[in-house]
Amino acid sequence: MNVAIVGASGAVGQELLKVLDEQNFPVDNLRLFGSPRSAGSEYEFRGKRVVVELLSKDSDFSGIDIAFTSAGAGTSKEYADVITRHGAVMIDNSSAFRMDADVPLVVPEVNGEDALDRPRNIIGNPNCTTIQMVVALKPIHDLSPIRRVHVATYQAASGAGAAAMQELINQYKELADGNAPTIEKFAYQLAFNLIPHVDVFTENGYTKEEMKMYNETRKIMHSDDIKVSATCVRVPVLRAHSEAIWLETERPLSTEEVLAAFEKAPGLIVKDNPAEKEYPMPLDITGKDPVYVGRLRKDLCDPNGLSFWVVGDQIKKGAALNAVQIALWLLE
Ligand code: HSE
Repeated sequence: MNVAIVGASGAVGQELLKVLDEQNFPVDNLRLFGSPRSAGSEYEFRGKRVVVELLSKDSDFSGIDIAFTSAGAGTSKEYADVITRHGAVMIDNSSAFRMDADVPLVVPEVNGEDALDRPRNIIGNPNCTTIQMVVALKPIHDLSPIRRVHVATYQAASGAGAAAMQELINQYKELADGNAPTIEKFAYQLAFNLIPHVDVFTENGYTKEEMKMYNETRKIMHSDDIKVSATCVRVPVLRAHSEAIWLETERPLSTEEVLAAFEKAPGLIVKDNPAEKEYPMPLDITGKDPVYVGRLRKDLCDPNGLSFWVVGDQIKKGAALNAVQIALWLLE
């Protein structure tokens, strides 16, 4: 396969390089594209040096089979035609086209077949917190339709990019040295703090990140009946997003049947042994492929309610890995 990565120097672009290799993705030829800032940088892929080409309206994508785009919604919108006009399938990590009716939004464990219907040759890679959540929702929804979901997220600094991770590290150092912390990537100091605000606020009081969880979950799971209410929170964790999920199903489900469904579900690992203090935590899940689930329990106040805890590396399954799995799904 001839593969392109647009936004190769960013956190997701760099992870795409690693994941393509880890997943043994068949790459005959790899081309990297980037902004004027990253054009000319060199990266190694399977022992070969690849130079980042400047992305422009004259960039030639003929012969490219799959283009992974991770340079932001503006770039995706501006260059979608340049990228796809010679037949490349664009797997887009941005939010540019996710809710377009003629763009499938795909998590292979949930709705892989949607990738086959792509009139514009664009496939949306969903928002990270949504990907992680639907991997855990799908086995439950198959047992009994989910009516509504309330979720609180605990999102790592890495969701805001590599520079944001560095800012968090620097803030701890600056504070330890008795200096005021530098605040550029977040609305407030994140060290020793949390910020109940990810992305910008919309008119209904929810943030864009929270509305992505609402809208994208319904599209991926083919159900307008699922109501999703999210509170997205930035926490001083370097990498891997956690989510506390409460949901209500049409019929009451026992924890035994849900656990059995979780155990069989692709892409999901159960780590749930309270007696031994075993549950997923971001520090342990960083760099891992699957989504981890634990703390499963019946809701005390609602016989149809369940609560559980989900952690995933949002740069892996929440971004690069899911994109590569979509591409692998197309090759099957
Ligand atoms: N928007 C996410 C975050 C990044 O800020 O954590 C992954 O979609």
